[in-house]
Amino acid sequence: METLQLAVLGSGNGSNLQAILDGIAARALSAKVVCVISDVANAYILDRARKAEVPAFHVDCGPSKSKLEGEAEQRVISILREHGADTVALAGFMRIVKQDLLRAYPERVLNIHPSLLPSFPGLRAWEQALNYGVRHSGCTVHFVDEGTDTGPIILQRTVLVHDRDTPESLHKRIQSQERIAYVEALRLLANGRLRIEGRRVLRLND
Ligand code: GRF
Repeated sequence: METLQLAVLGSGNGSNLQAILDGIAARALSAKVVCVISDVANAYILDRARKAEVPAFHVDCGPSKSKLEGEAEQRVISILREHGADTVALAGFMRIVKQDLLRAYPERVLNIHPSLLPSFPGLRAWEQALNYGVRHSGCTVHFVDEGTDTGPIILQRTVLVHDRDTPESLHKRIQSQERIAYVEALRLLANGRLRIEGRRVLRLND
């Protein structure tokens, strides 16, 4: 079993970061969060990191709203290297990561998305699912490739959609599954159980 040297990138509340920190504290996951990076200066994810005494950085990403590129991307890569990160977990990071970062961490960048991919990629996935009328939704943890929410799927957890759901109530139910899913996916990775074969992520010794 390896101890993941984990960097977490996020733009918002950081509930997935919290779940990861709690999973480590509970010894459910062999990992250390070596740094947390946000593109949003006052994001709560940075406060959560500081409270846990994890080095926390804001990286100004300039005018591009949707991508991590150019100088900002290089700055992120150098922070990751300085802190010895070997795995990058995107947790509510609202930018598309590009080639340089993916090449620096091949098969080591993960993301969590609040729908059952490949349905409803992109923004406000829970609302897309509700408006479409699906009866099941959930979350997906996947390896990141150069597309938007298109990389090989590690695991998914489902929730039922209720007649009375609002976007908020459905999102909340999905998020309670996210907290379990991310820790589980990272545990599989730390235990060397995952092998990518094309689009499929196989579980070794399963
Ligand atoms: C989660 O719903 C995640 O699926 C999506 O953004 C949200 C981040 O939540 N990508 P948090 O910042 O981890 O609380």
